[in-house]
Amino acid sequence: MKLSPNTFAQLRDFLSHEYGLFFEASKVTFLENRILPFIEKLNCIDMNQFIAKIKEFPDQRRELLDALTTNETWFFRHPRHFDILREEILLPLIRARQKAGPREISIWSAGSSIGAETFSIAITVREALLDLPGWEARIIGSDISAEAIQRANKAVFSSKELNLLSPILMNRYFFPQSAEGFKVKPEIRSMVAFERMNLLDPWPNRVFDVIFCRNTMIYFHEGTKATLTERFFQALVPGGTFFTSATETLHWKGENAFEKIFIRGEYVYRKRTHGRPFVLYRFRTPADLLRALNILVKHNFEYQLLNIPQESPNQPRKAIFIAKAFQKKVEEVFANAALKASRREEVIRQ
Ligand SMILES: C[S@@+](CC[C@H](N)C(=O)[O-])C[C@H]1O[C@@H](n2cnc3c(N)ncnc32)[C@H](O)[C@@H]1O
Repeated sequence: MKLSPNTFAQLRDFLSHEYGLFFEASKVTFLENRILPFIEKLNCIDMNQFIAKIKEFPDQRRELLDALTTNETWFFRHPRHFDILREEILLPLIRARQKAGPREISIWSAGSSIGAETFSIAITVREALLDLPGWEARIIGSDISAEAIQRANKAVFSSKELNLLSPILMNRYFFPQSAEGFKVKPEIRSMVAFERMNLLDPWPNRVFDVIFCRNTMIYFHEGTKATLTERFFQALVPGGTFFTSATETLHWKGENAFEKIFIRGEYVYRKRTHGRPFVLYRFRTPADLLRALNILVKHNFEYQLLNIPQESPNQPRKAIFIAKAFQKKVEEVFANAALKASRREEVIRQ
């Protein structure tokens, strides 16, 4: 049996819309292998009926999602991220909050799979805190796959999954569990909570110091990635850090509210702490906007070009933002070129 182009499109749109999982046309065979046995098992006569059953029955939905998601993960995957977490984020944060502020650290591993990433974060936090008294860590791992969450709660891992762990950390935080592998010790398990959660659904109202969402949004459509990145931004405290995997780029360009920082050979994203004053220049026509951009490039000014709500249909969809500190110089060069912005506003941006 095969999926016709129409049923493939119907299924692809359903999976993308409900769960964020986006399958290109090249993945049709993968989908056929995973979905057709299901359709047969549920005795569905067509895709409409299959989709209706998946929506109605949580067990079938769970089984389907387990079959479609890739849960591959391991401890300290991309180790430099954990060096950055410890040295550049946790240690300064602990120093600052020792002096003032709540002695709490909150981290979310979104798309945690079986928990290897979440426990790696917990171990890193534990190592950074050492024996400092009175500190609390709230570390959440969440995943759409019920099977993955079940394994995460079991907290037993194979030597292959633990391959990157040093013998010291192995001894400190794991004990052998028969032939199955190694179990995470209670002191680390108690720092972590796992939740089954579809990232596309509403999230509990809470904020984190750090969010990891690595190798998870790669399956999502561009628009879904952008919306999610904005939601991650909202779920961070000011100054909070967002980690995505080294091969992923952020799709939400929004108000440039994430600062892209290059540390220890990696890019991480930080939510700006304070708003900064900018001047926004609107132009009457796209030609004027283009002229302004050329002038700024010619004079080597740093600027940002961002979407704005249009006041009239012919107005350019973008405006230029310049740091307030450069306003005088920018206006001089605009005036010399006899270029006039149609409107100028001061704005404070994150
Ligand atoms: C390859 S694993 C990544 C695990 C870990 N973050 C890492 O980098 O090693 C991707 C995980 O994303 C989860 N996932 C996919 N779509 C999701 C969604 N809509 N909501 C929550 N989790 C999702 C999958 O179930 C899978 O466990």
